[in-house]
Amino acid sequence: MSPDIINSLASNGLSPSGIFSGNPYFSAGFGLIGVGAVLAVLRQGSRKAAAFTRRQLLVTLEIPSKDKSYQWILAWLSDQQKLKSSSKKRIFSKIIQNATKPRHLAVQTTFKQHDNGSVAANFSFVPGPGKHLFNFNNRWIQVDRVRETKMLDLTNGAPWETITLTTLNKDRDIFNTILYNAQKKAIEQQKGKTVIYTSVGPEWRPFGPPRKKRVLSSVVLDNNISEDILSDVKDFIKNGKWYEERGIPYRRGYMLYGPPGTGKTSFIQALAGELGYNICILNLGERGHTDDRLNHLLTVAPERSIVLLEDIDAAFNKHRDRSDPNSVHLSMVTFSGLLNALDGVSSAEERITFMTTNHIDRLDSALIRPGRVDYKVYLGNATKFQTATMFNRFYPESPSLAAEFAEKTEGHQISPAQLQGHFVRFKTSAEMAIENFNLLTAKQDI
Ligand SMILES: Nc1ncnc2c1ncn2[C@@H]1O[C@H](COP(=O)(O)OP(=O)(O)OP(=O)(O)O)[C@@H](O)[C@H]1O
Ligand SMILES: [Mg+2]
Repeated sequence: MSPDIINSLASNGLSPSGIFSGNPYFSAGFGLIGVGAVLAVLRQGSRKAAAFTRRQLLVTLEIPSKDKSYQWILAWLSDQQKLKSSSKKRIFSKIIQNATKPRHLAVQTTFKQHDNGSVAANFSFVPGPGKHLFNFNNRWIQVDRVRETKMLDLTNGAPWETITLTTLNKDRDIFNTILYNAQKKAIEQQKGKTVIYTSVGPEWRPFGPPRKKRVLSSVVLDNNISEDILSDVKDFIKNGKWYEERGIPYRRGYMLYGPPGTGKTSFIQALAGELGYNICILNLGERGHTDDRLNHLLTVAPERSIVLLEDIDAAFNKHRDRSDPNSVHLSMVTFSGLLNALDGVSSAEERITFMTTNHIDRLDSALIRPGRVDYKVYLGNATKFQTATMFNRFYPESPSLAAEFAEKTEGHQISPAQLQGHFVRFKTSAEMAIENFNLLTAKQDI
């Protein structure tokens, strides 16, 4: 207020405070401010009291998406829903159950490839982002799945997520039970199965649910190829000490080469099953891969796993053939980066690498020298022995026809994959498979 105005007010017998106290609007205003302030204090107090009570009464467990148990918990939570909806309960608990069923679900789709190549999709519902309530062992637990919109998980570019479980403080031991059950379920799912890992950024993550093991004898290779590789790998696995004593890196590289459809991939899968190992598929062309990351991935591959590099020739042809407009150059892995990663000094742990290619002649000799590839095997088109063995596996009731069928393959280049396709087509009759043999060779001429 300017001094002139104050003076003129004073000359009228009014002081500045007098105007406000005498003015009903102003005094009401002050009253409101006062009440507001008191309310704010109270509100803050009650908020603090609520927070205090919550702290005292409730206990929370936070599981970030980066943690291994995150996927276990998510899968376990979706199971809880299934179990509940199938169990018979009294009406009241059914109403509660219905009311607490998550209304916001997220779908998790996994694919399963059958041996005959067909693919089936499997959908499971997991609680979507938001709050859900469920009852486990007669205790109430709140699930809060939060997706950070501003934060990305740098390893895979996916939004950062956390699941927070809240329950009463007195029930806190339930968290252990939940984590234990979720882990048990995950392990049970893997029992007798092969887990396929793929690299996601700098780490390995399971790719889809664990797959049923493929029986080694279902991949029919010539002579003793299968037995020889198996005994070589087994010998390697049990000789860790021998390597250590001699100061040589404890690793072994295998290369399976040959035309398409001869069982390279299937054999590695079956071998992993036989050994009780998992498979880590390393895709060199993946976006964002660098030499350092490759090195890191090979160092941190899960225990008891086979690192698999498929179509190794294609990975670098793409990079070299810059004139091809369709080729993608998102991966920064260099050929020398791969060579170094394969025999980098860092690995003291056991490491088994399998590579496959259709064109071994296109590979740089540095890649297949001992130390990087110690064991090379050619898997070719079906020999008569393989043809007859496969025939017997498909038509065990007609053993006498196997030799006749195998004779027909003389002079033809037929892959085991083509044979399999033919046998699947005539699955009900061995005679039909023989009668229609020409379909196999006709296909080949196309
Ligand atoms: N030797 C074999 N014994 C039994 N089945 C086989 C054999 N080879 C291939 N198959 C069948 O053929 C299909 C393709 O085989 P697979 O993927 O293993 O071939 P691949 O050698 O890896 O081919 P590619 O070089 O094209 O990757 C599979 O379904 C598999 O069951
Ligand atoms: Mg393959």
